[in-house]
Amino acid sequence: MRAADLAADLLDVLATEEQIHAKLDEIAAKVTADYAGKDLVLVGVLKGAVMVMADFSRALPILVPMDWMAVSSYGTGTRSSGVVQIRKDLDTDIHDKHVLIVEDVIDSGLTLSWLLDNFAARGAASVEVFALLRKPEAAKVHIDCRYVGFDIPNEFVVGYGLDYAERYRNLRDVAVLAPHVYS
Ligand code: PRP
Repeated sequence: MRAADLAADLLDVLATEEQIHAKLDEIAAKVTADYAGKDLVLVGVLKGAVMVMADFSRALPILVPMDWMAVSSYGTGTRSSGVVQIRKDLDTDIHDKHVLIVEDVIDSGLTLSWLLDNFAARGAASVEVFALLRKPEAAKVHIDCRYVGFDIPNEFVVGYGLDYAERYRNLRDVAVLAPHVYS
């Protein structure tokens, strides 16, 4: 579904499906050049990264394995605490592999901070991050993010994998959720 189908629930559209796909093509070209000749593995962070992983991996003109992590941070509501629990671990050994973590959004940065340390401890040859969205004003820790799709304001955003109470993930665009939906 498109943002127009949910107009009553949404405020600004921050990135349309068309803008997202154009950005994914641009980043895919950079990643292809940067990782030429290297053993690259994409790691998606469930569940939000499902859409970006599906479209980004298919925008690459190279074969690349995909693996998945599911983590949950102990915190209340929409706030991360930085204490992370693994709910689904990787299926593959990333030792000596060049890992590119694929995320839908960097909010506080606490989830990625923990994941970067965790992957480095497994002996990955390198660990870099591609985040489709980043909220600079929400950062609690600095994340060295090599590829960023869009910097966005610190608003409650949904769509393209991002949810509110498991809803809106299948919205094709990224948009700000109207406060009346969650307040
Ligand atoms: C979201 C998002 C990131 C994390 C970012 O996941 O996918 O993994 O929060 O927040 P942070 O930078 O403050 O740590 P969420 O826990 O909402 O799970 P989901 O992907 O299953 O929706």
